[in-house]
Amino acid sequence: INYQKASFLTSAPDIKALPADTGIEVAFAGRSNAGKSSALNTLTRQKSLARTSKTPGRTQLINTFALGEDQRLIDLPGYGYAQVPLEVKLKWQKSLSEYLVKRDSLKGLVVLMDIRHPLKDLDQDLIHWAVGSQLPVLLLLTKADKLSPGPRKKVLMEVREASLAFMGDVTVQVFSSLTKLGLAELEQVLDQWFYP
Ligand code: GTP
Ligand code: MG
Repeated sequence: INYQKASFLTSAPDIKALPADTGIEVAFAGRSNAGKSSALNTLTRQKSLARTSKTPGRTQLINTFALGEDQRLIDLPGYGYAQVPLEVKLKWQKSLSEYLVKRDSLKGLVVLMDIRHPLKDLDQDLIHWAVGSQLPVLLLLTKADKLSPGPRKKVLMEVREASLAFMGDVTVQVFSSLTKLGLAELEQVLDQWFYP
């Protein structure tokens, strides 16, 4: 797939506002600030397709991007960020969980985790849920540029080992939006999901 041709579709406050639930969707999920929006921009070679921010909790809507006729990329609201008002948290957590549970066209989930803080409780909950729903999962260890090659490899091996416990289609890759490390591998996995 030519990911460069991705174009913005909609920002949806809830699943009712999403495009028709047909075709194939791949969603990017993860804790606030994990690098979801940055990874989408790196993948699509567009600097500001998805809005990124130093302030966690930036993406509070479900942002959708069209690839082809019936193929979409989804930037989900981050989870686990404590310092937002409870009201806001509940609202965006609700749209996130509704999206995950109800969206039939969701065919693959990329779970992004800062390589320095992998597999937090909420990440593990999400992975367990995805495996239980027969959804393939790619764990992307983001901001890999923050570690030197030795420690980077060590975390990758540890997370790969831990990922076996989920007993599902769970693969693990390192990634950096800064250096584009892991970009080719990400594309390979997404290609398989879009053209099974
Ligand atoms: P929310 O929308 O708040 O859930 O965050 P997000 O997961 O979309 O994160 P976003 O892409 O906005 O990135 C958060 C911060 O991490 C920004 O300051 C980015 O510049 C930085 N960042 C993202 N990816 C990388 C990376 O690969 N390397 C480095 N060094 N910084 C990164
Ligand atoms: Mg974001």
